[in-house]
Amino acid sequence: MREVAIVGIGCTKFGEMWNKSFRDLFIEAGLMALTDAEVSGAQIEALYGGNMSAGMFLEQEHIGALIADYSGLTTNNIPSTRVEAACASGGLALRSGIIAVASGYHDVVISAGIEKMTDVGAEKAMDALASAADREWEAEVGATFPGLYAMMARAHMHELGTTREQLAQVAVKNHYHGSMNPRAQFRNKITIDTVINSPLVADPLRLFDCSPITDGAAAVVLVPAERAKEFTDTPIYVKAAAQASDTISLHDRRSLTSIDATTIAADRAFKMARLQRSQIDVAEVHDCFTIAEIMAIEDLGFFEKGAGGPVTLAGDTAIGGKIPINTSGGLKACGHPVGATGIKQAVEIVEQLRGDAGKRQVDGAEVGLTHNVGGTGGTVVVHILAR
Ligand code: COA
Repeated sequence: MREVAIVGIGCTKFGEMWNKSFRDLFIEAGLMALTDAEVSGAQIEALYGGNMSAGMFLEQEHIGALIADYSGLTTNNIPSTRVEAACASGGLALRSGIIAVASGYHDVVISAGIEKMTDVGAEKAMDALASAADREWEAEVGATFPGLYAMMARAHMHELGTTREQLAQVAVKNHYHGSMNPRAQFRNKITIDTVINSPLVADPLRLFDCSPITDGAAAVVLVPAERAKEFTDTPIYVKAAAQASDTISLHDRRSLTSIDATTIAADRAFKMARLQRSQIDVAEVHDCFTIAEIMAIEDLGFFEKGAGGPVTLAGDTAIGGKIPINTSGGLKACGHPVGATGIKQAVEIVEQLRGDAGKRQVDGAEVGLTHNVGGTGGTVVVHILAR
């Protein structure tokens, strides 16, 4: 296997992009990544596009061909593949591109993620998202995504003592980080009271405990590490690309307070990278709901089980703290265009490791981690990147 490097990144602004189509978004992100890597379209050998549900959001399938066509990449008839693993589609597109380069099949590959969610009403968006759960055993009996994560939150509060304030602090911190990110959907700072007094969505989760409905796209350019300096002076090396699966239904899991696929994917990633948890300087984790970030920082092994809430309230996961989590603003404030999120996480970590993260910069960041979850944990993808 060859070592792989990221040599170009691109990411659109996230939010309700009424004036941009699905095609506009992926072309914008792709062009940014190609320009950043100083690569021409003719050099691209393969493309992996993460997308969860263009079928339900836009009634458009065959996304691999669509992206290649509208990006002008059909001239070379390159292989272009749509990758789907619900909200982990972006992370999986990244891992697929890495495997393609590592194996020696291709040298210059684009991994991208794209989702346009706001062209449908809230009810249809909720239904599309519910297709990431078990339709027969969860969605059809009324479980929404906020509802499923609400059950995890209740169990975490009951079994491990996590409090309402600790959950709220995840959103407060991520809005604070997002306030420094020009790409973020929400750039307003909020307080614990804002979260606790916002409308109830699925008890105990309120509006500000939830990631929003978002449009956006992101892309990275991957090459073999030995060729990286042809494209950039600041390559970021892929130390691990790990993936794990678990039951799609929450009721079939061992526990409601852990996502086992996170622990397993993280163990695989740290073994692959030959690194310790303590060597991670910055991480982007899957905070689709505030409880999800608390479980992620525990299940990834950064903190003991049950400590996620208290360390968040103590400021350990904010920029300047022990391990800054979600410097982009996370899914909560930066936004969550589901198929694009896993790639956006990598873009944020690359910016941090290059020292290009502006006001959000984590001093001396050398090693970073991304954690992307599909559904309630049926798929988890973890990447470790280093300077
Ligand atoms: N956080 C903060 N503010 C939010 C928000 C969020 N997550 N979602 C919407 N808002 C704001 C809007 O900007 C809008 O503000 P305005 O009135 O000042 O313009 C207001 O709240 C109402 O927005 P609306 O779009 O009508 O909200 P909604 O009630 O239709 O949807 C949720 C809110 C939380 C139900 C929806 O965002 C949701 O389903 N989120 C979860 C997404 C999800 O499950 N993703 C997959 C996870 S794996």
